[in-house]
Amino acid sequence: MSDNDSPAFDTTFGDLRISRVAGHIGGEVQNLRLSADLSAETIEHLNAALVRHKVLFFRDQAHLDDREHQAFGARFGRTVAHPTVPAPEGTKLFELDASKGGGRADSWHTDVTFVDAFPKISILRGVTIPAYGGDTVWANTAHAYERLPSQLKQLADQLWAIHSNDYDYGADRVLVEEQRLRHHRDVFVSAVFEAEHPVVHVHPVSGERALLLGHFVKKFVGLSSTESARIFELLQNRVIRLENTVRWNWRQDDVAIWDNRSTQHFAINDYGDQPRLVRRVTVHGEPAVSVDGQRSKTRSRPEATNDARIDEVIARTA
Ligand SMILES: [Fe+2]
Repeated sequence: MSDNDSPAFDTTFGDLRISRVAGHIGGEVQNLRLSADLSAETIEHLNAALVRHKVLFFRDQAHLDDREHQAFGARFGRTVAHPTVPAPEGTKLFELDASKGGGRADSWHTDVTFVDAFPKISILRGVTIPAYGGDTVWANTAHAYERLPSQLKQLADQLWAIHSNDYDYGADRVLVEEQRLRHHRDVFVSAVFEAEHPVVHVHPVSGERALLLGHFVKKFVGLSSTESARIFELLQNRVIRLENTVRWNWRQDDVAIWDNRSTQHFAINDYGDQPRLVRRVTVHGEPAVSVDGQRSKTRSRPEATNDARIDEVIARTA
């Protein structure tokens, strides 16, 4: 049996050579130079591998600058800016700089679920990586659903949740400095967004059912806050069980791409004052679809979004 046939490797996606990183989620794609010039076939294989492995890792992508990162991201769909956090000048990048208020994503979440059409894919590039600490952990929300007992599946199938960017920021964090709270209040929640999503949604490509929860959930529709908190904890604990996760130890110039429709993630805040800077390209997604075919709904959003404002600026300066 050759190395490529080993169960540790997945070679079912064209020329991609993917080594599995954990039992139920995560694959490292070896020897691929990410670029906007990749063939349509390779992009198709990456999309398919992403749906299977949920998060793909790539080492040694030092050639990617902000422009190339965005151009590569655009091969997966329309790229979008964060709805409230300003992007670095002239870009739609989302930057996490640990030295600034909003730079530490140390709470379990799926990206931007406070809008109805939340992102389908996130592409994160390690620009400055600390010497130790700062790993990111992803959880497989489809596997979490699959492993639920049928009684809990039936309960979850019927629930809808209200997601908001105005959530309880300090609730699950061990240490929240004043600077971070201020950033959350003044920047992250500068405009309030709320969306209603089914707690169980059907993946548009694989048809798998997955739990859609994370820290933006405020409460469940029709339940009190106390009841919501108890049921949320029960289901969320299923998502973040260790055997359902993969932990990535970043090196400088790594890239991680995740299927935001079937994962949650958590950036471990254990690197103290060391610099850490990562930048994300985010790809527009569709509203979630419940097991009985209903789509996510907007409850509230401001008139002009950050993304629309950036589009205007780009159009004016083009
Ligand atoms: Fe995130």
